[in-house]
Amino acid sequence: MAMMWAGRFSKEVDSGVNAFNSSIAFDARMYRQDIAGSIAHATMLGEQGIISAGDSLEIIGGLKEILADLESGKLQFDPNAEDVHMFIEAELTSRLGDVGKRLHTSRSRNDQVALDIRLYLRDEIKEIRELVKKLIETLCDIAGKHADTIMPGYTHLQRAQPITFGHHMMAYAQMLLRDIERLNDTEKRMNISPLGSCALAGTTYNIDRSRTAALLGMDGAMANSLDGVSDRDFCMELANALSICMVHLSRFSEEIILWCSWEFKFIELDDAYTTGSSIMPQKKNPDVTELIRGKTARVIGDNMTLLTMMKGLPLAYNKDMQEDKEAIFDAVDNIKLCISTFIPMLATMTVLKDNMRKAAAKGFINATDCADYLVKKGMPFRTAYKITGGLVAHCIENNTTLEELPLEDYKKQSELFEEDVYSAISLDTCVKERKSYGGPSPESVRAQIELVQKKLKELCNG
Ligand code: ARG
Repeated sequence: MAMMWAGRFSKEVDSGVNAFNSSIAFDARMYRQDIAGSIAHATMLGEQGIISAGDSLEIIGGLKEILADLESGKLQFDPNAEDVHMFIEAELTSRLGDVGKRLHTSRSRNDQVALDIRLYLRDEIKEIRELVKKLIETLCDIAGKHADTIMPGYTHLQRAQPITFGHHMMAYAQMLLRDIERLNDTEKRMNISPLGSCALAGTTYNIDRSRTAALLGMDGAMANSLDGVSDRDFCMELANALSICMVHLSRFSEEIILWCSWEFKFIELDDAYTTGSSIMPQKKNPDVTELIRGKTARVIGDNMTLLTMMKGLPLAYNKDMQEDKEAIFDAVDNIKLCISTFIPMLATMTVLKDNMRKAAAKGFINATDCADYLVKKGMPFRTAYKITGGLVAHCIENNTTLEELPLEDYKKQSELFEEDVYSAISLDTCVKERKSYGGPSPESVRAQIELVQKKLKELCNG
């Protein structure tokens, strides 16, 4: 196939180089955005009198037909084309002849590709936001059912203080809300049009860049043509936002993996979301969560690819930048897969309340509350801390718990202890009384759910 730039060259490009250069295998997915951009461009060219109104209409008609033919499968991508932009333009020209050749007036593939990726990722952000929203709603549901399900809270993976399972779920809801905020923020900077930056130096034609931006539903035109074609911040920002979101999913996955082990047995995953072993008949493996943890590495890798690819590039366009697409597409594809599998897995898991409570009843997780009991009776906290430490050591030595320790043993340590110590250190009291703002009490969890649902509405109504 003769190249678009054949005029300047005396030889055909080596076929290996052609294949090496080609991006159609991975940029064909942007065909809708490429056509939308071209339609906006042709509309503006016609309105400005840069091409005739008739040619503009004919080009727009031709582009719409190409779109319909691609959607129906009547037209197939040519794997030998250099990229989606060249393919669609060549197809238009083969259909319209000279009129088709007018489309690329006052445009370059450099501003075209920058525009297409923005438009493509803008749509992806909407989908990802919807998925994250569904995930948060699922967490609110679970938290609502388990606002008073007591479980041990951990630091250093050592039992620390009692919390509720609902509280634990709502911690993830908060992380995911911030993920949505980051997506929204990325979207704002992404939705500015580079079209009309042309190759790098704008153009001598009287183009109207605000018009093309408005036609594409974008919030204005980028203010510097060099930046317009050189900028991939929006890819790096998105990859970063997705990496952080994946880190959240990965930490959650890690906890689920622990919770469904025999050592914890806090939850049981539905059979539909686990796999067996080919040799060990007893096995029920949490593959989904392990894969999410694994794919997190991959999305972080995509983020790193983008940062590293950009860091040494002089302005403006360099072919290195063609590498942006596989990285960012891999990140968006994978996070969508992960979240859409994660949601039903969470929604169908069984929470083993009794096991959680049993675990919370061991490990002296009410020791802080025992110290606080003394503090409320007037003792300074540090003294109360020391006395409680002594009680815990005594319990460990005598293989008993704070709940079972007789009052006379308490009294040996401090006269302040009375019969009411038992209710003060009961798990239910420990949790119910932790109603400070953002705390784990059932009351606080219900308030958190309400707040999250409200925030979710605000963030997703854009
Ligand atoms: N396929 C190219 C890319 O993805 C399109 C832009 C090419 N521009 C150029 N001057 N070679 O980045």
